[in-house]
Amino acid sequence: MKIYNDYFGQFGGRYVAEILRGPLDELEKHYIDAMGDESFLAEIKQFGKEYIGRPTPLLYAEKASKEIGGADIYIKLEGLANTGAHKINNAAGQALLAKRIGKKRIIAETGAGQHGVATAAVCARLGLKCRVYMGSEDIKRQRPNVFLMEMFGAEVFPVESGSKTLKDAVNEALRDWASTSEETHYLIGSALGPSPYPDMVREFQSVIGKEVLAAGRERALDVKAMVACVGGGSNAIGFFEPFLEQDNPRLIGAEAGGIGSEEGEHAARMTGKGKPGVIQGYKSQFLYDNDGQILKTHSISAGLDYPGIGPQLAHLGEIGRIEFTEVRDDEALEALKFFAAKEGIIFALESAHAGAAGLKIASEYSPGEAIIINMSGRGDKDIFITAKAIQKDKWFEFLREETKNG
Ligand SMILES: Cc1ncc(COP(=O)(O)O)c(C=O)c1O
Repeated sequence: MKIYNDYFGQFGGRYVAEILRGPLDELEKHYIDAMGDESFLAEIKQFGKEYIGRPTPLLYAEKASKEIGGADIYIKLEGLANTGAHKINNAAGQALLAKRIGKKRIIAETGAGQHGVATAAVCARLGLKCRVYMGSEDIKRQRPNVFLMEMFGAEVFPVESGSKTLKDAVNEALRDWASTSEETHYLIGSALGPSPYPDMVREFQSVIGKEVLAAGRERALDVKAMVACVGGGSNAIGFFEPFLEQDNPRLIGAEAGGIGSEEGEHAARMTGKGKPGVIQGYKSQFLYDNDGQILKTHSISAGLDYPGIGPQLAHLGEIGRIEFTEVRDDEALEALKFFAAKEGIIFALESAHAGAAGLKIASEYSPGEAIIINMSGRGDKDIFITAKAIQKDKWFEFLREETKNG
C-alpha cells in the first residue's frame, strides 16, 4: 500500500470546520483501501483505456525542434484524452472511488469549465447524479462548457456570492458537502484542498508521468527537462510524479505571468509574489493582501488564474526540486501559433504556457538531448479567446452573421 501524505513539508493539512472532518476522514479511509486493492486499480486502468483513450501519445516535434535548433522537443498529447484535457483522469478516478463507496451523487466546482465537463461526462458514463457549482460570472464567460455539461445531464448551479468565480464555487460546494456527504462525493478538480485531496488527485494524474517514463525508456531518450503549466497543479504533479524522488530531469512549472507584475495582472504564486497562508482548507502559497483577502488575478487562460497552488508543488518549489517560471499571455499565444504552424497541433491556452517555457529551455540544450512538454489540453475550447486575439475582424464578422437572425 502506498504511504499517504497529508503534509508536504510545511504545506498541506486539513484546516476545515468540524462538520467537514467526518466526510474527509471517511474519504481518506476509503481512498487508502481502494489504492491497495488491485481490482480497483485494474478498473481504473480499463476505464482509462476504453473511455479516456489512454495511453496518450508522446510526439516528437521534429520541425519545431529543428527550428529552435536546441533539444529534441517531445510533447505529451494529453489533450487527446476524451473531453480534451487531463482533467478527466482525476474525474474518472474519484468517480470510480465514489461508486465503490456507494455514493450516488457527485458535486464539483469549476472555473473555466474543463473540470466540470470532465466530471459531467464521467458521471453520465457511470450513471451518477451530478451538480457542478460555477460562479455566475464564469457561466457568462464559458457558455460552451456550460452547454456541454448540460448535454451530459449535469445540473450547472450558478454561484452568486463573492466575486462569482471559482473560489466562490469551491465554498458553495463545501457547504453542500457538509450537509449531504452521506450520499454525495465532492470531486475536487486539482491537486489542492484539504487532505486527502492533494495526494489523491496526484495519484490519479500520475498516469501521465508513468506513460512518459515508459515511452522515454522505450525510445532511450536522454531527458534533460520536463515542463508543465501550473494552475492548481494537477497536470504538473501528475506529469512529474515518477521523477520527484530523483535529481534529474529538471522539472519546470510555468505559471501565468499575465500582462505584468502588478497586483491583479498575473497569477504567479511561486516566483516571489505569493506567500504562505491557509485558505480553503489547506496551507500553501497564495496571492492575498495584508488583510488576508484573496487578490484578483489575471491570465488569458481561465485554468491558470487560481490564486493558490497545490501544497506539494509549493513544497517542491521551496526545496528547489521544481523550478517555476512565468509566461506572459502574449508569449503563450505565440507558442500556440508556433506549434500549430510547425506541428499541426493546437495547445490549450493553459498548456501553451508550458509550450512557451519549453521553447525557451530547449535552446539551452543540443540535439540528442530531450525535453518533454505536457500539452495538458487541446485548444478547441479556447476558440472564442484565441480567434478574437489572432483574427479579430474575421471572427467578429462571423459572430455577427451567426447572431443576426437569433
Ligand atoms: C487544459 C488545462 N490545463 C491546465 C489546467 C490547470 O489546472 P491544473 O494546474 O490543475 O492542471 C486547466 C484547468 O482548467 C486546463 O483546463
